Amino acid sequence: MAQLQLLLLLLLVSLTLQTQPSPPKLNPIDFAALFSIKSTLSDLPGSNFFASWDFLSPHPCSTFSGITCSFESDSLRVDTLTLGTGLVNSSGLTGSLSNSITNLTSLTQLVLYSGIVTGSIPSQIGELTHLRVISLTNNRLSGGIPISITMLRDLHTLDLSYNELSGSVPPSLTSLPSLKVLVLESNRFLGEFPAVLTQLLHLDLRNNGFSGELMLLPLSIRYLSVSQNQMWGPLNNLFSLSSSELVYLDLSMNHFNGTIPQYFFTNPNLSTMLLQRNNLTGGIVSLVDFRHYGEGSTVDLSHNFLSGELSVALAGVENVFLNNNRFTGVVPTEYVKSLSAGSMKTLYVQHNYLTGISTEADGLLLSGSISICISYNCMVPGVADNGGCPVSAGGLLSRPASQCIEFKNGSTSLLQH
Ligand SMILES: *[C@@H]1O[C@H](CO)[C@@H](O)[C@H](O)[C@H]1NC(C)=O
Ligand SMILES: *[C@@H]1O[C@H](CO)[C@@H](O)[C@H](O)[C@H]1NC(C)=O
Ligand SMILES: *[C@@H]1O[C@H](CO)[C@@H](O)[C@H](O)[C@H]1NC(C)=O
Ligand SMILES: *[C@@H]1O[C@H](CO)[C@@H](O)[C@H](O)[C@H]1NC(C)=O
Ligand SMILES: *[C@@H]1O[C@H](CO)[C@@H](O)[C@H](O)[C@H]1NC(C)=O
Ligand SMILES: *[C@@H]1O[C@H](CO)[C@@H](O)[C@H](O)[C@H]1NC(C)=O
Repeated sequence: MAQLQLLLLLLLVSLTLQTQPSPPKLNPIDFAALFSIKSTLSDLPGSNFFASWDFLSPHPCSTFSGITCSFESDSLRVDTLTLGTGLVNSSGLTGSLSNSITNLTSLTQLVLYSGIVTGSIPSQIGELTHLRVISLTNNRLSGGIPISITMLRDLHTLDLSYNELSGSVPPSLTSLPSLKVLVLESNRFLGEFPAVLTQLLHLDLRNNGFSGELMLLPLSIRYLSVSQNQMWGPLNNLFSLSSSELVYLDLSMNHFNGTIPQYFFTNPNLSTMLLQRNNLTGGIVSLVDFRHYGEGSTVDLSHNFLSGELSVALAGVENVFLNNNRFTGVVPTEYVKSLSAGSMKTLYVQHNYLTGISTEADGLLLSGSISICISYNCMVPGVADNGGCPVSAGGLLSRPASQCIEFKNGSTSLLQH
């Protein structure tokens, strides 16, 4: 009797197991697409990303590394695809991106980690209308940005940095309604960058061949870098920085000219302002009250043609680079106080026409915890530096007296840069 009961129980258990729904299958089109994607890519020596991609596995969604799936109608669809491990000790992938990616029509996120993947971005990527994130960085992708990308109305982040992409940026890219983060750093893009008509937060165009004047930008922007391009023109039509949310601004190493607008110094949110190596002229506004720019703040105006006296407006910045300009007058006492208090940690004013610094600075010049470089000015006798000068400052403590005499008589016509 007990045996019969046991038998019945076992039967019941096995029936229950059999009637449990089997896990949903990966959609066959997605399965075929993954197969094609794998066929054009491979691990570089030292990477084993594809080790788990066994196409005999019944459930790729739970066994393949780099994919997640979501259930849709009657099957599983690939939801996110991350190619490569992204581990620092991994060398990444080689090969190219298969056009079959565009068959993964439920994809919301496409990531390719650093490797040496070549070829172009699939031209029909715009068919993946649910895409919110595209991040294809640190490879050797070439060709242009596919025009179809401008159909991705949910696209939030586009990061194509560190590739060999070229051509100009499709104008409608910067009007995509959801776009918040656009990173095109270190490619070979050319031409004028289009006006930004969305609530973009982060725009990084550094190290490309963009030319023309600064584009129109939204007040929402918090991070802007156009460093190391061929851009030119005045800064005063940039946008109303005074009411923007901008925290980080890098316009360095371009050909911008004209003066620095006052509102660059009045926006309370801005903590990094890098304008070095341009063709900027005029003075720094001095009407502005001293404010604390905060920890890590940096203002770099070096290697321009700026003149006039050093502004108290910068006394609240942690790292100040004003070297290689045509500044005159004395180093403001407020700077020396900030250095003493430790709120200012770097002050580079070498290669100007400054005539003095408060004697309170004598102790500071001997302190090793801050970097001060004041060499090659018109201070007599030449003031000693505290070893805080970069090699590029050269070994000369003072400017040749002949250059300083001209200046001291109020003439700036003979100043040499
Ligand atoms: C890389 O690092 C991870 C974790 O630190 C480790 O598990 C893995 O074995 C390493 N891979 C290689 C190829 O060294
Ligand atoms: C997309 O899927 C369809 C249907 O399976 C197939 O005919 C087509 O070749 C695929 N496209 C690509 C680019 O793989
Ligand atoms: C500074 O940023 C905050 C939010 O980040 C914003 O509320 C504030 O309006 C900004 N300040 C100015 C003057 O725009
Ligand atoms: C800067 O302006 C001067 C003329 O004022 C011009 O000769 C020079 O080419 C300009 N430099 C750059 C980098 O634009
Ligand atoms: C800026 O450079 C352009 C082109 O070289 C020149 O036409 C313009 O006058 C310059 N503006 C200023 C304020 O120097
Ligand atoms: C500078 O001005 C003083 C008088 O103000 C004059 O004696 C001197 O010769 C001038 N030096 C030069 C180099 O013009």
